[in-house]
Amino acid sequence: MELIPSMQEKPALVVTSPPYNIGKEYEHIATVESYVSWCSRWMKLIYEHTSDKASFWLNLGYFSVEGKGKNVPISYLLWDKSPFFLLQEVVWNYGAGVAAKKYFSPRNEKFMWFVKDESSYIFELDRVRDKNVKYPNQKKNGILKCNPLGKNPTDVWQFAKVTSGSKRSSIERTPHPAQFPEKVIERIVLACSNEGDLVMDPFLGSGTTAAVCERLNRRCIGFEMREDYIEIISRRLEAQADSSDQLDFLLKEIRKPA
Ligand SMILES: C[S@@+](CC[C@H](N)C(=O)[O-])C[C@H]1O[C@@H](n2cnc3c(N)ncnc32)[C@H](O)[C@@H]1O
Repeated sequence: MELIPSMQEKPALVVTSPPYNIGKEYEHIATVESYVSWCSRWMKLIYEHTSDKASFWLNLGYFSVEGKGKNVPISYLLWDKSPFFLLQEVVWNYGAGVAAKKYFSPRNEKFMWFVKDESSYIFELDRVRDKNVKYPNQKKNGILKCNPLGKNPTDVWQFAKVTSGSKRSSIERTPHPAQFPEKVIERIVLACSNEGDLVMDPFLGSGTTAAVCERLNRRCIGFEMREDYIEIISRRLEAQADSSDQLDFLLKEIRKPA
């Protein structure tokens, strides 16, 4: 992370999910105070080294705070701990997860959408409109009521988590224990950056942000401290490049004049 200031170019978008301090294999549990102060430090670094119109999308879950709370949204502790302006919280709702017995089963995580400048930031709604409209042809005074490109996808997003298990594993599954689904990141990258832009993920994990950026013609820079995860990222990007080469070849074959 201390390499951030040496970047030659300031990213237009940062999208990431940091360690949640819940005892995953890549974490050393810290006190809540030191976790919050560590997050404040790297969020400030991100603020200082992103472009003026940058968005910063921060995905966070829950942790326990001794004597205070069991499922405390980490976003409640971090939302005002950086110089960024909080534009909106998006709730990511997923269908399956752990079954709780003494409280409701958790089925959401938060994304905080921060911007540097509240009056100037990239937001291309038409690229991410939801095409699932119940009455697409309904008119009022002869004018279509709904945008023909679809409706605003709102601040509650439903995307399945990346699953594991021999029979039900998602095709994008890697061995990383905390992988984002590509669909969530795709919506953010399409809405908040343009083709050719530089996107940063300071906690790359399995490289979901990098894989999505490559598919959507954005450049991606990121950091990951574990070598085994870096290996996962490079295998994932190589496999994706191979399959898109294959797709290019198939499309050329299909289009060949008979
Ligand atoms: C929640 S995971 C990110 C998962 C990612 N969103 C994905 O889709 O795979 C957080 C990652 O941050 C990495 N990490 C933790 N501290 C770090 C640091 N100081 N610098 C770089 N990476 C770090 C961990 O090894 C872990 O892979």
